[in-house]
Amino acid sequence: MSLPHSLFLVIFGASGDLTRRKLMPALIKIHNGKRFPEHFAIIGCARTAYTDETYRAYLKEELIKFGFLTKEEMETLDDFLSTVHYQSMDPADETTYFLLNDRLKELSPQYENNGNYLFYLATPPLLYELIPKCLHDAGLLKKPGLKRIIVEKPFGYDLASAQKLNKIYAAYFKEEDIYRIDHFLGKETVQNIMVTRFGSTIYEPIWNRNYIDYVEITAVENMGIGTRGGYYDGAGALRDMVQNHLMQLLAITAMEPPAKFDKNGFRNEVIKVYQSLRPLTDKYIRDNVIRGQYIAGDDRIGYREEKNVRPDSRTDTYVAMCLYVDNWRWQGVPFYIRTGKQMPTKVTEIVVHFKPAPMQMFQMKEGFYKGEELIIRIQPDEGILQRIAMKEPGAGFYMGTMEMDFSYDQHDQETGDAYVRLLEDSLVGDPTLFTRSDAVDESWTYFDKILDYWKKHPETPLYGYPAGTWGPKEADVLINRSHSEWTNPCKNLTHSNLYCKL
Ligand code: BG6
Repeated sequence: MSLPHSLFLVIFGASGDLTRRKLMPALIKIHNGKRFPEHFAIIGCARTAYTDETYRAYLKEELIKFGFLTKEEMETLDDFLSTVHYQSMDPADETTYFLLNDRLKELSPQYENNGNYLFYLATPPLLYELIPKCLHDAGLLKKPGLKRIIVEKPFGYDLASAQKLNKIYAAYFKEEDIYRIDHFLGKETVQNIMVTRFGSTIYEPIWNRNYIDYVEITAVENMGIGTRGGYYDGAGALRDMVQNHLMQLLAITAMEPPAKFDKNGFRNEVIKVYQSLRPLTDKYIRDNVIRGQYIAGDDRIGYREEKNVRPDSRTDTYVAMCLYVDNWRWQGVPFYIRTGKQMPTKVTEIVVHFKPAPMQMFQMKEGFYKGEELIIRIQPDEGILQRIAMKEPGAGFYMGTMEMDFSYDQHDQETGDAYVRLLEDSLVGDPTLFTRSDAVDESWTYFDKILDYWKKHPETPLYGYPAGTWGPKEADVLINRSHSEWTNPCKNLTHSNLYCKL
């Protein structure tokens, strides 16, 4: 794996939100780190009638307006923008692709590029089926040279549509050239889980059913759906967050050590986790999956009042569920996962609850000691916190807890942006941190059962929860089965000693 001598990054959806807010800021960082191929150009494609100059001016204004850039990036912005070109075309109209083909040909001599193309689909998912075919029909995939494609989520809407997409992509690209992006895998602390587990001897020997009581995986946000009602109302939390992001977190937490950390080794183990999930029956779904929708509260409007949302919508904005990974390592250990919009704070974290010592020689003043906790904080304050038993100073032998807390922030260590990491991987041709087609298949096979169940049983409760709260109380009942409650961090996660339960 190495950078090619030359490469064109072609972004469809170049005037959209994702390009402006995520891709361009990430590309500037890669540019400033001098990690682009020697001859590299970005070609933005969308319907708006920009020229190279007006597109650069638009990007410059947007990037400055939203304050995405550091001082150094402001200084090098013009230099970065000189690598950016624009081709006006309609990605939904197959007759316009020849314009792109001509443009790439025209730019080829300047960039010594004989057909090395990386396509990025930052478009509405509706176009995911069409674009590969149009690229092919316009002859853009014919020339020698590398041809890669990056596709944003959602990759499919259910099992059938995901399988159809997989088939289409397989017809035009080799699997190793298809980069199905899940930006959670680009997050530093998510990757760090593998280092904590497989690069050290501390945790891995106790990372199993003998020592771990249960695991919580939380990815919640304190925002509503903003301007995304059109997409979100047809998707819901299960499709938007659980089927992809939460499943990736579950897989990394539960996987066996890969034989090698590479695209096959890592992704083979992800698949095995999905294959080991306890099969979903109707009864299992009824007892273990809770869905909710935010209603007005805390001065925030309810989901049904949001723009482009049906006033009688039954779309889930919250999902909590309990899953089991039925293998030797995890038999009987519940994994409680949850996601929700309009919660009190934005936090993504994994809490591993260890079992208490088999013999309770000491107790806390308040009574029984429940066991240690390892908190893997993925955001906003990336780090790791180990809560551990300690004698309370003074008379007697009472147990207390102390916290060993590490955050990158405290050590002035910048954690890279997920898009920087993933874009760089796609430039050098490393798909390890991208979702493979069989993982898409397995994950949808599992979640299709829940979607089907909800469809067949529209009477399945959809619990309303006031915006700004931690979701329906039925989700608390779910986790109470492990004699516990959700770990609800307070708003200020920056320092461990401020870590609290609301
Ligand atoms: C996206 C979802 O994939 O992830 C959004 O579509 C969600 O609904 C976002 O807000 C959360 O990502 P992050 O990195 O901000 O936690």
